[in-house]
Amino acid sequence: MKNRLLWKLFSIIAVGTVIFFWLIDLVASHTEDSMSYIDQGYRAELRAYAKEAERILYEEGESALALWVKGIEEKENTWIAISRPSIENLADTQLSDAYIETFALGRSLEWKIHLYFKYNPTMDIPFEDGVTRFLIQLPQRMRPGKNLFIIDLLLQIALPFLILCLITFILYKHVMKPLKRLEKATRRFSEGDFNVRASEALTQRNDELTRLSTTFDKMADRISTLIIDQRQLLADLSHELRTPLTRLNIAVDCVEQDLQSQSALERLRYESSNMQGLIDDALTLAWFNTESPKLELHDLDITALLQVIVEDAQFEFAQHTVKLLQPDQEIIIKSAHQALTAALENIIRNGLFHTPVGKTVTISLHQESHFLVIKVKDQGCGVPEEYLEDIFKPFFRIKQNSQDNERVVSSKKSGYGLGLALAKRQIHALGGSIYAQNVTDKSENGLVVSIQLPYKSS
Ligand SMILES: Nc1ncnc2c1ncn2[C@@H]1O[C@H](COP(=O)(O)OP(=O)(O)O)[C@@H](O)[C@H]1O
Ligand SMILES: [Mg+2]
Repeated sequence: MKNRLLWKLFSIIAVGTVIFFWLIDLVASHTEDSMSYIDQGYRAELRAYAKEAERILYEEGESALALWVKGIEEKENTWIAISRPSIENLADTQLSDAYIETFALGRSLEWKIHLYFKYNPTMDIPFEDGVTRFLIQLPQRMRPGKNLFIIDLLLQIALPFLILCLITFILYKHVMKPLKRLEKATRRFSEGDFNVRASEALTQRNDELTRLSTTFDKMADRISTLIIDQRQLLADLSHELRTPLTRLNIAVDCVEQDLQSQSALERLRYESSNMQGLIDDALTLAWFNTESPKLELHDLDITALLQVIVEDAQFEFAQHTVKLLQPDQEIIIKSAHQALTAALENIIRNGLFHTPVGKTVTISLHQESHFLVIKVKDQGCGVPEEYLEDIFKPFFRIKQNSQDNERVVSSKKSGYGLGLALAKRQIHALGGSIYAQNVTDKSENGLVVSIQLPYKSS
C-alpha cells in the first residue's frame, strides 16, 4: 500500500478518538447513574420513619404524631408532613384510574435523584391505606452523589489524560521508535561505521518508514562502497607511484652527476609520461566512481569505428594479425565516441599484449535481439577462471610467471591494471555490459572479452 503509514496513523487517531469519547461517556454516565440512587440503608431508615409515623397516628393520635415529627425534623434538619391529598375534578372532568393509582406528592424512594439540583427532593412514602402519605424532604446526609466533584475531576481530567497517554504511546511506538532506530543508524554511519543498515528491522512494516530505511540503506551502500573504493584507489595509486618516483629520483641523480645524462633524461621523460597516464586513468576512474556520469550519446557508425580501431591496432602491433569480422552494412548506434573508443582500444591492446607474436586477435561484431555484441578474442594464455571477474577491478594484475614463456609476449609494457576497470565503467555508462571468458576450444587458448551494447534495429 502506498501511504500505509498515513492510514495507520489515521486509524490509530480515528479509532483512538472514537474510543476516547465513547469510553468517557460510558464511564461518566454509568458512574453518575450508579451514584444517583439513595443508599439502601437510608431507604430503610426513611421507610422506618414512615412506618413509625403510621403507627403513632393510629395508636397514639395526631398530637403524639406532631410531637414525634417535630423531634425527627430537628434531628434530620428537614421538614416532614403527613398528608392525605384529595383531588377535586372540575368541569366534569375525570382523572384516569391508572393515574390516581400512581399519583404521588413527592418522589418514590426507588427513583433516581437528580445530582445537579440545588434543593433536596421531597420523598413520598404511602401508608398502608395507599392514600395517606409520609412526605419528607430528603435529609442532606442521605443525599446521593456526595463525591460528585472528585468523580467529575477524575472523569474529566484523569481518565482523558490516561487514554491520551495510551494513544500517544501507541503512536510513539509506531512512528518514533523506527525513526529513532534510523537516527541511531545515521549517527553510527556518520561516525564511520559503514556496515550499519537500517531496513532489516523494518521490513515487516512495509510502509513509508520502511521505504525511508531502504533508501537510507541504498545511500549507505553507495557511500560506503564509494568511500572504500576511493580509499583503496588512493592507497593503490600512492603504492603504484612509488616505483616510478624512485626511478625518477635515480634519473635526476644521474643528471646531477652528469652520468649518462642523455639516457637519464629519456628515462625522466618516459617515467613522467607514465605517471601522467597513471594519474589520468586513476582520476577518470574516480570520476566514474563518484559521479556515475551520464554520457552524452550521439549517432555513431560502429562498423566504421571498429575499422579505424583495428587498423590502428594492426599498425601498432605489426607482427600480429588483427582480424575484424563484421557485417558489411553500416550499423548506427547511440553512443559516446570517446568512451567507447577508449574501452575498445584497451581491450584490443590487452588481447594483443597477451597474444604471442605471429598469432591473431579476432574482433567480431554481431547483432542480437536488443543489443550488439562485440567480442575480442585473442590467442594468449587466458585468465585463470577465479580471476575472470577480478581483472575488472582497479589495479588488479595477474602476476607474471617468468617460467611461463607464453606470458611474456610483448616487449611493450602492460599497464597498471586500470585498463579493464575503466573499460567496464565506460561500457556501463553507455548502458552496456562487459564480461570475460576463456576460450573453451581444446586446441586453442585465449581470452574472449564480450561487450554488449544497447541497440534498437530500425
Ligand atoms: N587478453 C588477456 N589475456 C590474459 N590476461 C589478461 C588479458 N586482458 C587482461 N588480462 C589480465 O588482466 C589484468 C588487468 O587488465 P587491465 O585492466 O587492462 O590492466 P593492465 O593491462 O594495465 O595490466 C592484466 O594485468 C592481465 O593480467
Ligand atoms: Mg590493459
